[in-house]
Amino acid sequence: MAVLGNRLSRIADIAGGSTVCDVGCDHGYLAIELIKRKRAGHVIASDLREGPLQRAKENIKRAGLESDIDIVLSDGLCHLKKESADCIVIAGMGGPLIENILKGNEEVAKNAVLVLSPQSHVPEFREFLWDNGYEIIGDEMVFDDEKYYFILTVRYCGSPISYNKRDSLIGKDPDLSEGSALKAFCDKKTRELDLIIPQIPDGKRLEKLREEFRIYSEG
Ligand SMILES: C[S@@+](CC[C@H](N)C(=O)[O-])C[C@H]1O[C@@H](n2cnc3c(N)ncnc32)[C@H](O)[C@@H]1O
Repeated sequence: MAVLGNRLSRIADIAGGSTVCDVGCDHGYLAIELIKRKRAGHVIASDLREGPLQRAKENIKRAGLESDIDIVLSDGLCHLKKESADCIVIAGMGGPLIENILKGNEEVAKNAVLVLSPQSHVPEFREFLWDNGYEIIGDEMVFDDEKYYFILTVRYCGSPISYNKRDSLIGKDPDLSEGSALKAFCDKKTRELDLIIPQIPDGKRLEKLREEFRIYSEG
């Protein structure tokens, strides 16, 4: 069995409940880990495509966990009913796709703890959550295989949450301590922007990049 990288391992630390659904389970490693670590009583491992589900099925069989993990072919949250999962993981997809998946079955999304790890458009994704009454109760960054990933723990609270540009870029309570993954990420963004900004003509884009530079460099 493959060893989980930092990203999925951290998601397995955070996610948990009597029934956890891993949407877009791919190989099924997270589902297996959640049962092995006793983080979940039962797991629903779902995916849009047959190929990944077949791989998941083989891995779950090899781990001897067929009775603990249901494997379901489904688009997003379509297969779930309200409260049929108390925790839902959606990781390894772009922010816009995760947003669409949540919008596709809001009743389910609003009644579970969500562990979300968007791989693109993270600032816009945070804004979508806050605008739509989802509270981000955990927001952390992990470094895995030369890349940085945010992991957001979210629950629906019913009222929009206010935010500023800094909140969108790095979260409301960022861990910027020396040695943290987020501090290293901000330093990297600062270096990148420092190279890009002199090449950008005056205008709205330059203003936006200068603001981002200020936030990433000051923390
Ligand atoms: C890059 S993999 C990520 C796998 C795993 N969740 C992770 O974080 O490592 C994305 C998976 O999501 C699945 N997927 C994409 N769109 C989906 C959707 N609308 N509903 C369910 N699964 C989807 C893909 O088939 C693929 O297996």
